[in-house]
Order: sequence, then C-alpha cells, then structure tokens
Amino acid sequence: MAPGASAADPQVIFTPSGRRGRVSAGTTVLDAARSLGVDIDAVCGSRGICGRCTVTPAFGTFAKHGITSAPDHLAEPGQLEMAYRDEHGLPDDRRLSCTATLLGDAVIDVPPESQVHRQVVRKDLAARAFEMDPVVRLHTVDVTEPDLATPTGDLGRLFGALRREWDLRDLRADLSVIRILQSTLAAGGYRVTVAVHGGRDVIAIWPGFHDRAFGVAIDVGSTTIAGHLVNLVTGDILASAGVMNPQIRFGEDLMSRVSYVMMHEGGDVELTTAVRKALDGLLAALANKTDIKRLEILELAIVGNPIMHHLLLGIDPTPLGSAPFALATDTAVSTTAAEIGVFAHPGARVYVLPCIAGHVGADTAGVILAEEPHKSDVMTLVVDVGTNAEIVLGDRHRLLAASSPTGPAFEGAQISSGQRAAPGAIERVRIDRGTLEPRFRVIGVDAWSDASGFAEAVSAAGTGVTGICGSGIIEVVAELYLAGVITADGVIDGAVAARTTRVVADGRTFSYDLHEPSDGGPRIVVTQNDVRAIQLAKAALYAGVRLLMDQLGRDTVDEVRLAGAFGSQIDPLHAMVLGLVPDCDLDRVRAAGNAAGTGALIALLSGAARREIEGVVRRVEKIETAVEPRFQEHFVEAMAIPHRTAPNPNLERVVTLPPRPATADRVGDRPGDWRRRRRPVVRSAPAADR
Ligand code: FES
Repeated sequence: MAPGASAADPQVIFTPSGRRGRVSAGTTVLDAARSLGVDIDAVCGSRGICGRCTVTPAFGTFAKHGITSAPDHLAEPGQLEMAYRDEHGLPDDRRLSCTATLLGDAVIDVPPESQVHRQVVRKDLAARAFEMDPVVRLHTVDVTEPDLATPTGDLGRLFGALRREWDLRDLRADLSVIRILQSTLAAGGYRVTVAVHGGRDVIAIWPGFHDRAFGVAIDVGSTTIAGHLVNLVTGDILASAGVMNPQIRFGEDLMSRVSYVMMHEGGDVELTTAVRKALDGLLAALANKTDIKRLEILELAIVGNPIMHHLLLGIDPTPLGSAPFALATDTAVSTTAAEIGVFAHPGARVYVLPCIAGHVGADTAGVILAEEPHKSDVMTLVVDVGTNAEIVLGDRHRLLAASSPTGPAFEGAQISSGQRAAPGAIERVRIDRGTLEPRFRVIGVDAWSDASGFAEAVSAAGTGVTGICGSGIIEVVAELYLAGVITADGVIDGAVAARTTRVVADGRTFSYDLHEPSDGGPRIVVTQNDVRAIQLAKAALYAGVRLLMDQLGRDTVDEVRLAGAFGSQIDPLHAMVLGLVPDCDLDRVRAAGNAAGTGALIALLSGAARREIEGVVRRVEKIETAVEPRFQEHFVEAMAIPHRTAPNPNLERVVTLPPRPATADRVGDRPGDWRRRRRPVVRSAPAADR
C-alpha cells in the first residue's frame, strides 16, 4: 500500500512487472507507479510534453488479480493530455500516465517503450537482449526566476529545481553548461532541459523541452574502426559505419606499430593522431547517414585491444611490447570527447571499457559483456579470432582469459591467393571425396561454382573470383584433409596427383588448383606454404585454448562461441575438422557476431553493465601465453589436423575422419615456428623464449 492510502482506496496492478498496491483516489498513474517501484520514463517531468510516459489501461474482470478494471476508473483526459493528443496524436487505448488519475481499481500495462529499463533486442548485431540502464538522462525542469530578495545564482536554482522535481542531489555542472546557462534560461522562459550523466554531472542544457540525445558505440580494431550511432533515449541503432584504421600505414600488425613508436621519436603522437582522426571521421560518417548533428552526440563507449586502447588515449604503448606486458591501467577509463580530440557535444563523455591484461584488451571485456560466459552454468569457450586470438574460457565460478598470436593468416594474409573478406573472395569450399573436384561460393554471389549460370552470376555481380578469404581457407584445408589430399601432418600428398590433375608439383612440394579461370582472372591455388601458415595459426589458437583448459583441469568444453568478423563466418564443422577449437557438440558451437562491438553497445546503454564488467574483469584470471612453458608443447601437438592426440568423439559422430597416423611424422613440427610468430618486440625475452 502506498503511503497515505487506505484499504478503501483504488487498487492498481501494473503489468508486466506484476507490482500492485493501493493509492489514494486522484493519484496520477505515474505517481502510483513510482510509489510502487514501477519503472516509467518521464523526461518532461509530468508536463504533458514528452509523451514518454504512455501506458495502456486494461479493462475487464481479472480473476487472477481479483479486481475489475473499468474505463471510468481513470479520470477523463484533462487539458494537458488533450493538447498532447491534438499535437502529437496518441492511440485511443493509450493514456499519458503523468496526467491520468486513478478513481478506481485498474490494471495498467507499461509498454516497453515507456520503461526506462526497457529490454533492448538487437537481432542485426547477433546481440543478446539486455536491459537499458541509461547513463545519460534528460530532465526538463522549471527553474525559479531570480529574485532580489533571495540572491542565489542561476546554477543553484537549477540544481534546486532538479532536486525538487527529480530528486537529483550532489550535482555538478560542466563549465560549458555554466557558460550558456543564463542565456538558455532566458531563451526557455526558465524552463530548460538538462542532460545529467551518471546522476551527477550536468553535461548539457537546452531551452524548453528537449528529447534528443545520441551516443556512439565504437570498436577500435587494428584494421577497421566500426561504430553504431544510437538513440540514448530509446536504445535504437540509427546508423552503422566502419572506417579503415589509418595506423595501417605504420604497420600491418600491432607489434609493428609498437616498433614504430619505439624507433621513431614522436611516433606515439603520430599514431594517436591518426586513430583519433579516424574516430572523428567515423562520427562524421555516422552523422551524415542520419539527420543528427555531431553536437547532439553526448556519449561514446569504446572497446579496443590494449595497444589501440593506449594509443587512442594517448598512453605510451611500448610497455605492452615486452615482458611483463604491463598495462598503464586495467580499470575502465572515463574521459571526455574533447580530451581525445573528437568533435561532439562539448560535454560529451567517453567511457572506455577496462583492459584485462597486456594482450587481452577492452575488446575482450566487450566480448565477455556480450556473451556472458561468467554467468554460464557450463564450460564456455569464447574466441575472437583476428591477428591475435582472444580467448575466454570459464563459467560462473571461474573465468580465464588469454591471447594467442595467430598471425594474419586467418585474415587471408600470408596466403598465396589470400585476400580480405570482400566481394569476389571464395568463402565456402567443398571437395568431392571421389573425384577431388572442388566447388565453391564467392562473397557477393549466391550460386555455387558448379551451378549452371555461375559464371554469368559472377559477371553480373561484377565481382570476379579474386582470391580466398579466411573462412574459405579454413574450409579448403579442412576439405582437402577430409578428401585425403592433405595428410594429418598437413602435407599435400603428391601421390594423389595420380588421381587428379588438381594436385600439381610446385618445386619440392605440391599445390592444389582450386580455380582455373577462363575469364582472365587470377588462378587460385592452395600451396604447401598456405597449409603450413594455417597450421601455425590454428595451432597457436588451440594451444592458447588448451592452456586455459589445463588451468581449469578440463579436457573438454561444453560450448564454443566464435566471435569477430572472421569467427562469425567460419563454419563450425570445418573449424573443428581443422582443429581450430577443441572437440565439442557441434550444436553447441555458434557464431557470436561482432561481440566486442556489441559489448560497447551494451556499455553505452547501461550503467549496470559497466559496473558488471568492471567487477568481472577484476576477477578474470589472466594467462600470459608468452611465459607459459606448456604453450610450445601444446602447439606442437596441435600442428596435426585436427590434433595429434586429442580425441574427437563429437566430430566423428558427424564426419568420417581419415585414420590418424600411428606415429608422429615430424614434418611441420618446427617448435621454433610459433616463437617466430610471437611478439616481435621483446626487449627482455620471456622465460619460454630463452
Ligand atoms: S512525463 Fe512527459 S508527457 Fe508525461
């Protein structure tokens, strides 16, 4: 029962929360909701302007609740509500809860769009549903006009109004707000809307009623920087865009960028300036796609690997290039857009998720936030595959994280016909077990290469067949292994040349002809070196995973999530045939999309999620693969396809694997290989490297 209500007063039940209680007759539905702890948005502070507080009364006898709710149990719409209906329209079954008063028992449904903590579901990002907990909130207030008798400052009276109307206390205001406060109060006739960040900082002010606030969730990758422009009030994604990371001109991979900083005075400033400019360009691109001005962007949430994190924030990244790979900070960073040189609203804030360890960054924190392995009852492996693979393994009891130096092979680099995933790249491959003939599909064309009309479709799409991307190279190597063209040790078997013209001598080794063009395009082959590059990459990934499994005393995992642009494209079956990830029930292996970016989005829209990830990161156990002696042992074992010794019961249920060789053939087991692929900038070598 609400304070002051009696047993004779109207009873109100809110759905879907199920909260119920009695309130005095004449109480507004909004006040009743607040007194019962029901979550209803109300930007304009019950002025009948914003329309955010709409509810749907339900009428009838509700046996379940033991009450009858009738239309006359709510007062007729008053002047404010009628004015709102006239100006903005409102469905007949909806009422403004801030003006509708309760006269009798009522059942009131609060639709998702009227809830502050509404659920956000993003199918397009493969993101989980999550609950908004806005960090930036808009509040409209009427500020008392100045008066000779009580000579308080305008800011004091603004804070007074915010305390009175919104129960906001201990407020501070940005200087940029104070500078325009008096003119804004005058323009709004002493009615203003402010944006309050974190319930404490007044970061923006507008005259009168204002209901536009936007934010951007950003994933700063070493190759691309991707962002989503988001309505901070509704949680809707309004535009997405990506730009290349211009730091590529200083080095393709992260460590070469750190080397650049070490070897060039002022190199850190160059790299910081480059990434900040790109971020600035990204915001411009996002604003251009919509009718939103950059000055309306009030918050950014950012994830990135440790080196991107440091460079973006203007922190020297060189300690990350050598043992003990010390981060400048492993806590979340809160700063302003102005501080990192990005043009947005003068009060715009920036939240950077926490890094976890020297090679496990804020992007992995984003992945954890999106995939929630720390809440799982089963042993969950999440891998984000890129130039480095970030690996997270655990359940709700323990969570471990590491990074493994897979190199750029999975992105198509170091592969003779390799290319980035783009139209024209081969992304799917099947090889006939009998004839050893391939068929494939390229990005941008639906038809398979053996379908009639494929050549016409490729030509119509204007893509050509230009190369093979990461998911394509995984599939072709796995398929060649299943077809017996490649041995378990990764050798393209010259003896197979007797059965097919596809296998051809290539110096002292053999290659497989995947595509012989008839249109003047490139010939696409898989060479022995290509297979070796993939073996090295997948062995590094598997060895990293295996280290974490050792730490947890596990031989198996229950679920696997493949995150990142590449991870989302990999076919789980082929990934397992190749031995990229441990054997697992295939139905429990799934793509996680751009989980790091999703994590940034969740953090942008939820203060609770920020607190959660900051807590989780503190308890993540960090494993540094570079100093673990067992890494090399696992690496050597994992060079074989799928693996030299690990059993594959789940995989063998769905495919027939070629017989495993009885003794280890040492071809390809070059224990030094993984070292050469590791962090090239090592000033004092880790123990395992000495
Ligand atoms: S609170 Fe704004 S219209 Fe009801």
